[in-house]
Amino acid sequence: MGDTLEYTDEEAQQEESTFKTPPARARRQLVRERLDFQPDDNVLSIGCGPGFEPAEIAEGIGQNGHVHAIDQSEAMLTLAEQRCSSTSNITLSRADAVALPFADDAFDAAVAVQVYEYIENLDTALAELARILRPGGRAVVYDTDFDSLIWHATDQERIGAICEAFNDHCPRPHLGSQLAPHLRNVGLAVEWVEPNSILNTRLDEETFAYHLMEAIKTYVVTRGKITEDVATAWIDDLQETDDLGNTFFNLTQYLYVIQKPNE
Ligand SMILES: C[S@@+](CC[C@H](N)C(=O)[O-])C[C@H]1O[C@@H](n2cnc3c(N)ncnc32)[C@H](O)[C@@H]1O
Repeated sequence: MGDTLEYTDEEAQQEESTFKTPPARARRQLVRERLDFQPDDNVLSIGCGPGFEPAEIAEGIGQNGHVHAIDQSEAMLTLAEQRCSSTSNITLSRADAVALPFADDAFDAAVAVQVYEYIENLDTALAELARILRPGGRAVVYDTDFDSLIWHATDQERIGAICEAFNDHCPRPHLGSQLAPHLRNVGLAVEWVEPNSILNTRLDEETFAYHLMEAIKTYVVTRGKITEDVATAWIDDLQETDDLGNTFFNLTQYLYVIQKPNE
């Protein structure tokens, strides 16, 4: 099992940069479409990160709707507060997904994008999701399976070792393909599962690959898993591969539409 990531300010800002990229915006749009919330809905954003998710959901909600957003990271909440402070129908709070500070059946809809893969105590967190949704309420849960990652470099052995070391950044790097039985075990019905591939064929600040590269380097070096020299050589390799026009990065993530059955 890996050690769960607690974000430093630098790591939170790196995540924020990743979430500004076109593929991250596109996946949030896909999540909102599949969540299909209604204007008056009370929506919970679990693990809201730097706040793009609640800000964009709130735009689509009417005066009587509300978005509650929680995260356990102070660094992330600071960014989310900056992003959401001018919106009256968002409430942000620090909370843990395994002990949600809300009443039973409180929400019409909920969303958790790349959150449960970070949670050791997954079944408790999913039981909390089931508890706070009203009967008939819907949620979108979205997670990665890092086994799906294809990333070309000249030295494939080195990139393999670095990505393997990065898998320790969360306790469940393969959750995306393993969620359904966990959801059913807490009484949630899985309505729909679909893949969302993030494909980059270049390496620049508009790409997910570029920011993931930076985040991986920060993580593996500061946690002492890979030396600075090896990580720098890896980045040089990816940049040379890109100079030749040969970048190929593909990561597949999985979106689950779920419902709490009517009693
Ligand atoms: C990869 S980010 C995703 C952020 C956001 N869902 C998005 O897609 O824009 C994962 C977030 O989950 C949060 N998180 C991880 N474990 C959590 C937990 N047990 N309770 C609440 N938040 C958690 C992290 O602090 C981080 O902000």
